[in-house]
Amino acid sequence: MGSFDGKVALVTGAARGLGRVTALAFAREGARVVLTDIDEAGGARSLELLRAEGGEGIFLRADVRVERDAEEMVGKTVERYGRLDCAVNNAAVVRFAPIVEETSESFDLHVDTNLRGVFYAMKHEIRQMLKNGGGAIVNQSSITGSLTGNANESIYAATKGGVDALTKSVALEVAKNNISVNAIAACGIDAPGDVFHQWMERENIKPEEAGKLFPIGRMGKAEELTAAVLFLCSEQARFIVGHILVVDGGWIAH
Ligand SMILES: NC(=O)c1ccc[n+]([C@@H]2O[C@H](COP(=O)([O-])OP(=O)(O)OC[C@H]3O[C@@H](n4cnc5c(N)ncnc54)[C@H](O)[C@@H]3O)[C@@H](O)[C@H]2O)c1
Repeated sequence: MGSFDGKVALVTGAARGLGRVTALAFAREGARVVLTDIDEAGGARSLELLRAEGGEGIFLRADVRVERDAEEMVGKTVERYGRLDCAVNNAAVVRFAPIVEETSESFDLHVDTNLRGVFYAMKHEIRQMLKNGGGAIVNQSSITGSLTGNANESIYAATKGGVDALTKSVALEVAKNNISVNAIAACGIDAPGDVFHQWMERENIKPEEAGKLFPIGRMGKAEELTAAVLFLCSEQARFIVGHILVVDGGWIAH
């Protein structure tokens, strides 16, 4: 028996990194999982891994920047599995540059993917969850945003600060409808290819050295991130409303 038996979970940006490990974690706990991404090859690989473990799921190509795609990903989820219980809005982009070198194209890409994408996704997920009689949403934010800044990541930080603000306000709108909306602010989760690995590469920090940057003395494991996501999606977490849960090995506390 899994703790998400009978539940249907949707994960955006599930073609690699944290989205992939989140989708696999839901499937291990018995959920039927809808994986979405613009990277079809990566999405197919994630689905292959999920099914190899005996999980049930489908992959849909959906661009979070396009409202019609958000509406369709929810519509197809319901068409296939009849409901939507949990949604993890995880897809995002990050490009590193000092502000003096930033461009409007980069600004638009970050805002459209990281912020507009979460708005479209939540709008359509919540419409369905209201019909279901409840649900849980977790937005993948970042410690870089409303909690800390990071040089050369200003536009990304601005979008993640926006995600935190959206999370709190939307959470208040739907709390009485048995829908929880929360966010996770992660840092340093060891999921190769992910944004933290991209940052290490840019800063020329070797993976074996990266763990020493964290008060806990190591990087985070994928299952330490997914445990937090699944907890926020669980019935036991329903009293947690509009919370930004930090999963960072002590980086912020330090
Ligand atoms: N890895 C970390 O330590 C860390 C730290 C802080 C925050 N985060 C956040 O966690 C989430 C996942 O991070 P990650 O490190 O796994 O990133 P990643 O870059 O490895 O994966 C992001 C996924 O989003 C997809 N994507 C990009 N644009 C898309 C679009 N327009 N439509 C649909 N999918 C799109 C990509 O194809 C990719 O599969 C992000 O929101 C990120 O900001 C991660």
